[in-house]
Amino acid sequence: MRNVLVVGIGAGNPEHMTVQAINALNKADILFIPTKGDAKVQLADVRRDIVSRYVTNPHSRVVEFEVPVRQVADRSYHRSVDDWHAAIATAYERLLIEELAEGQTGAFLVWGDPMLYDSTLRIIDRVRALQTVAFDYAVIPGITSIQALAASHRIPLNLVGKPVEITTGRRLAESFPHKSETAVVMLDGEQAFMKIDDPEARIFWGAYLGTEQEIIISGRLAHVRDDILTTRAAARAQHGWIMDIYLLQKGEDFEE
Ligand SMILES: C[S@@+](CC[C@H](N)C(=O)[O-])C[C@H]1O[C@@H](n2cnc3c(N)ncnc32)[C@H](O)[C@@H]1O
Repeated sequence: MRNVLVVGIGAGNPEHMTVQAINALNKADILFIPTKGDAKVQLADVRRDIVSRYVTNPHSRVVEFEVPVRQVADRSYHRSVDDWHAAIATAYERLLIEELAEGQTGAFLVWGDPMLYDSTLRIIDRVRALQTVAFDYAVIPGITSIQALAASHRIPLNLVGKPVEITTGRRLAESFPHKSETAVVMLDGEQAFMKIDDPEARIFWGAYLGTEQEIIISGRLAHVRDDILTTRAAARAQHGWIMDIYLLQKGEDFEE
């Protein structure tokens, strides 16, 4: 039987790596590193840096593979994601058959934690369902971008005794501020915070968290949103890519 380790590597700072994650990488015969095209070359570089810092097993080998690009033309969002996952599952199936021998262990280095807006585990399920290559798998948790955001702003995530909603830019309008008093927003390509019109709202924004380029801005949304918009656009133009996340909140601790 082959073995697969799905290892959370943290959200950008190589020092996010846990002892469990380091030990897992050192158990692996093959370390799979996804590459995502020129603009996001830094994401693969963080993984390479992690391997060179922490992997001491002289017998392991790195295999880099290109992640298929999501096709969006002529299809719904759901169809587009489903097709994309199927294409990645085919790539994983090929990697497991061609690169991993029977009895060997392969590790996938997953950004942040694999349970948070990441489909590696769904894709692993798809590959198992194909029944073309038998393998067992385990998950090693990692530091998420939500933890990195809260740490950089030195804030707790929730108000005392209150819930938190985690959502995407596409769906923010459904939640904050009427449904949730605290919303974490990820994968926001449209700067959905610009459409929130609540004088009480506060924002804690962060980009490239954990990396040397980290930028954070916080304050009352109405006061800082234009600053975030221009800072974000300039950083994106400078680096060629951006990853950002933010927390929106209103209300206070102990308020009913
Ligand atoms: C595909 S999701 C992956 C999330 C990841 N599994 C995690 O645990 O954080 C990518 C989104 O996570 C957020 N993100 C991940 N790393 C980040 C970082 N270093 N700085 C800011 N946002 C980050 C952004 O919202 C980005 O659009």
